[in-house]
Amino acid sequence: MDGRLEYRDPKKRDEVVELAIPILDFKARVVYNSRGEESIEVETSVEGAHGRASSPSGASVGKYEAVSFFGGNASRTLTKINSYKDKLVGLDASDPHSLMHALREIDGTANYSEIGGSAAYSFSIASAEAASNALGIPLYQLLLNGEEPRMPLPLGNVIGGGKHAGEGSPDIQEFLSYPRGTKSIAEGIRANIQVHKRVREILQEKDPRFSGGKGDEGAWAPNTSTEGALEALSEAISAVTDEVGFEIRIGLDMASTSLWNPREKTYTYSREGGKRRSTEEQIQFVLDLIDEYEIYYVEDPLHEEAFDDTHELTTRVNGCLIVGDDLFVTNTKILERAVKIGAGNGAILKVNQAGALGDALEFSELARKHRYQIIASHRSGDTIDANLAHIAIGTGATMIKSGVVGGERIAKLNELLRIDEFSFISRGKSMPLAKDR
Ligand code: PGA
Ligand code: ZN
Repeated sequence: MDGRLEYRDPKKRDEVVELAIPILDFKARVVYNSRGEESIEVETSVEGAHGRASSPSGASVGKYEAVSFFGGNASRTLTKINSYKDKLVGLDASDPHSLMHALREIDGTANYSEIGGSAAYSFSIASAEAASNALGIPLYQLLLNGEEPRMPLPLGNVIGGGKHAGEGSPDIQEFLSYPRGTKSIAEGIRANIQVHKRVREILQEKDPRFSGGKGDEGAWAPNTSTEGALEALSEAISAVTDEVGFEIRIGLDMASTSLWNPREKTYTYSREGGKRRSTEEQIQFVLDLIDEYEIYYVEDPLHEEAFDDTHELTTRVNGCLIVGDDLFVTNTKILERAVKIGAGNGAILKVNQAGALGDALEFSELARKHRYQIIASHRSGDTIDANLAHIAIGTGATMIKSGVVGGERIAKLNELLRIDEFSFISRGKSMPLAKDR
């Protein structure tokens, strides 16, 4: 099958396209995400096959993200996408780049506010899935276009705070587990689940009133401080490391824009009695945490416009990923700016921040060119769609951030297990891990 896709080499785009898979029809509908919010789902049909995708949504939506809905709601977006049917039917489902150009042209804005980012997301992914089904290949293979697939490792949210967990929980949004030393995806997934379980026991030992409440991404939402959360996670990780025999490391998503007060130019930690940190103090705070807890991964340690500060932090760490989520919002132009400044060494990839699948592919090409590690990520409001697993492999991500438990989180991880099994059956070996790249 690999050879048949050569016609899609972007450098040879002008050459004869031998194998277009025209979209015959699509059906869009309003469905719900894990938070019970409305979302757009699209089903695309091509000759002999179909594909389906529904868009996730974030709790804290960055200023520069694609706008999810036309006119602010799902039903108006639905009417809108349906009104462009004659322009969309007939396009080549197997080419995410040309679909993106068509969607952008129809939309005519810089942020998909006319067609709705959720519609662009669902339509482009459903169409790519339909094409891969028609070709009888996995979606990731269509996206890789002949390149060797690699299996990303799971980065799992274990303790939640900030906007995901609410009052009393830590100021930092996510405390994550990363099974860095695993030799297989299955063991990596299992290790994160064990850490998640052990953390609950530790939290309960420390606070008998802890009832097992969870935040939007399935992470525990305890009444504790940053330090309390880090101590509990460290203890759990060292217990599980002893059991599994490989390295597991801590990650943080600080989502610092939600701590940032632009008027005062300080980061406010309400859980620490309203303590404020200046930019320099914030950088030092992050460096101290990395040192003390041997943290491997820090996402958005500084606010969404702090490129120079993120550059400074990046130069002061050694062997730790400094990752932009709200900072880059999966936007190629913003990443170009970050590359020039040297801000960060890892990039979150959320297709719905970018809009269409083709936008996210452009972003991943740029990130890889400049050696930023890619972390393909779910959103806090997500659906049971599993295609994030394919998008992670198809964009060359080294990590997949999709929680540890909860149906909509585990759906992506279970898909990775199926993909690995498929690799074993078809090639006699597991898919090599992306960390070995
Ligand atoms: P969001 O959070 O989906 O609510 O934006 C996830 C994250 O910040 O990584
Ligand atoms: Zn984030």
